[in-house]
Amino acid sequence: MPTLATVLSFVTLFAGIHAIRIPFKVVHAHDRPASHGRRDTVNATISIIDSTNSIYLGAVVIGGTNYNVQLDTGSSDLWIQGNPANSKDLGIETSITYAIGSAQGEISTAPVTFAGYNVSNQMYLRVGQNATFSSGLFSTGATGILGLGPSSGSILRGQIGNASADALVDRIFEQDPTTPNFVSFLLERLGDGAPVNGQLTVGDIVPGYEAISSQPQLPVIKLKSILSKDQHWTTYVDGIIGPDNSTISYSSSVPSTPTGKLVTIVDSGFTLPQIPRAMSDAIYGRVQGASFDTQHEWWTVPCNQYLNISVVMGGVTFPVHPLDTISSDFGLKDINGNTVCLGTFQPITTAFSVTNEFDMILGDAFLRNSYTLLNYGDFISNGTTSNTADPYMQLLSITDPVKAMNEFIGARLQTYGPINYSLLPASQQQHSPVPAGETVAHYEADVLRYLPEIIVGCAAVLLLIVGCIIWRCCCTKRQRLARAQKKRGMYSESKADYRQIDEPGSAPMGMTPLYTPDLKSPGKAYYPDPYHRF
Ligand SMILES: *[C@@H]1O[C@H](CO)[C@@H](O)[C@H](O)[C@H]1NC(C)=O
Ligand SMILES: *[C@@H]1O[C@H](CO)[C@@H](O)[C@H](O)[C@H]1NC(C)=O
Ligand SMILES: *[C@@H]1O[C@H](CO)[C@@H](O)[C@H](O)[C@H]1NC(C)=O
Ligand SMILES: *[C@@H]1O[C@H](CO)[C@@H](O)[C@H](O)[C@H]1NC(C)=O
Ligand SMILES: *[C@@H]1O[C@H](CO)[C@@H](O)[C@H](O)[C@H]1NC(C)=O
Ligand SMILES: *[C@@H]1O[C@H](CO)[C@@H](O)[C@H](O)[C@H]1NC(C)=O
Ligand SMILES: *[C@@H]1O[C@H](CO)[C@@H](O)[C@H](O)[C@H]1NC(C)=O
Ligand SMILES: *[C@@H]1O[C@H](CO)[C@@H](O)[C@H](O)[C@H]1NC(C)=O
Repeated sequence: MPTLATVLSFVTLFAGIHAIRIPFKVVHAHDRPASHGRRDTVNATISIIDSTNSIYLGAVVIGGTNYNVQLDTGSSDLWIQGNPANSKDLGIETSITYAIGSAQGEISTAPVTFAGYNVSNQMYLRVGQNATFSSGLFSTGATGILGLGPSSGSILRGQIGNASADALVDRIFEQDPTTPNFVSFLLERLGDGAPVNGQLTVGDIVPGYEAISSQPQLPVIKLKSILSKDQHWTTYVDGIIGPDNSTISYSSSVPSTPTGKLVTIVDSGFTLPQIPRAMSDAIYGRVQGASFDTQHEWWTVPCNQYLNISVVMGGVTFPVHPLDTISSDFGLKDINGNTVCLGTFQPITTAFSVTNEFDMILGDAFLRNSYTLLNYGDFISNGTTSNTADPYMQLLSITDPVKAMNEFIGARLQTYGPINYSLLPASQQQHSPVPAGETVAHYEADVLRYLPEIIVGCAAVLLLIVGCIIWRCCCTKRQRLARAQKKRGMYSESKADYRQIDEPGSAPMGMTPLYTPDLKSPGKAYYPDPYHRF
């Protein structure tokens, strides 16, 4: 059972970023040549180890030694703590910063095998015994992290600056273009009586889940190149259906998002999905006995409460298993020492996007409900071949809500008493308190995101005001002059008069900074470092 601190730590893994995009040819699963080449000898599947429904690990072989690493779709680098054979240090030290610490070590190369694929001279970060990374990660059995995110986010790729530093999955796809460039994974749920076999594949579909190929292709939202080091597996969510069976209304904070949709990151490095506060409140605030923990910023609820929520993506409804919505995995107690469950759809606080790039993050408590396929498209590039296909994701729902309800009853009835299916009336919904600073932080995010527009807008308004003043003054002056002329019966233009009128025009115009963004300011508690996010 992980401690709260550990849980908190793993709630938030997700790395920072860099942009190099060179096209490469995509080969889709269906048009893969029916060759009997090298990859047919590969069992492209690895088992995924479920560490208490919090962290998901897989084996990577480096220099002949097996290392269990966290499989993280939210970052893009491989690092391990260890000293594998046949590894060569390049004499370059660097660090990869996550919210819970940083992995600091030597950039090294070694022969690596992953999911049956051999890669020579794979670059990775070799971290010594002095790792400052939160020890909580190691206590789960992990010896490092394997990032499965887009390579534009790779710190090593950014540092070395050429394809020799490409991420592990990129290298696998690059070295044999007949390997379809996708990974797919199933995450096991401990404790529901009918667990799937957690596994990850590279370029293969898990047998029995072929229906994923006909699921809608969810487009990956690409960030403008200036922000591309922040690129993640990002797509749209059509909405979240709340426990009262109605869609929770929400307006995205990401500019130019279609009405009603939200922008989400798919990140297996987050244990808990991160959603807008109002949505989390709508899910848990109507449960009798729900309580909001302001220290950890999450809801706790009685474990016998049945909640049926769904996430809608690409027009498809993904029911969330009630065991995932209200989790008993973390050993939480209320002030009286009674066991309570964790509301896993947590209000997004520290992970919130300071530049409004996304609204929410779908972590493991959601991802256990789908078979997930990430197609890298033109994220894969080694500089010599061209791939112009857009990356996309496909998700196949694997949770049957009726079966899930029965599993919930089976798992909770005996220990926690009769299941409560009711909700408090909407008028009695509780709302979590918004911490001081959060509103300001979100407001600042808006300002930051729209800064160019705001500057242009303000300049325009100022010009307009100045213009008006000048025009008004002119009018007044003219009227005065006209009256004077009438009196004197003659026209006399005084230059001095006009010089006076001109003066407002020489006043400073508009460009005073309205707001000086200080992205790294430690005072900005909500996002300490947007570039190496977590
Ligand atoms: C491939 O590897 C997985 C995980 O190790 C294993 O479960 C599966 O049986 C293997 N498949 C074959 C065909 O060997
Ligand atoms: C990978 O390397 C191992 C050990 O050298 C070898 O046994 C295996 O056949 C190789 N796999 C492929 C697909 O080349
Ligand atoms: C930590 O370990 C790495 C790799 O062994 C080494 O390069 C680095 O100098 C060490 N850092 C400190 C502060 O000891
Ligand atoms: C990539 O960059 C490294 C470090 O700058 C350099 O040693 C290496 O030769 C480069 N590789 C290629 C293929 O350009
Ligand atoms: C890039 O991929 C092509 C096609 O597989 C391969 O021939 C070439 O050697 C690769 N180049 C690098 C720099 O890895
Ligand atoms: C759960 O909610 C979904 C979506 O609103 C609905 O289709 C389904 O019937 C509900 N399941 C149960 C068991 O109530
Ligand atoms: C939930 O709503 C859907 C669509 O509006 C409907 O088909 C379903 O029967 C509803 N389920 C419940 C449990 O009310
Ligand atoms: C079940 O929930 C309803 C509505 O939230 C509440 O009124 C009722 O007291 C709860 N029942 C039990 C046994 O907790």
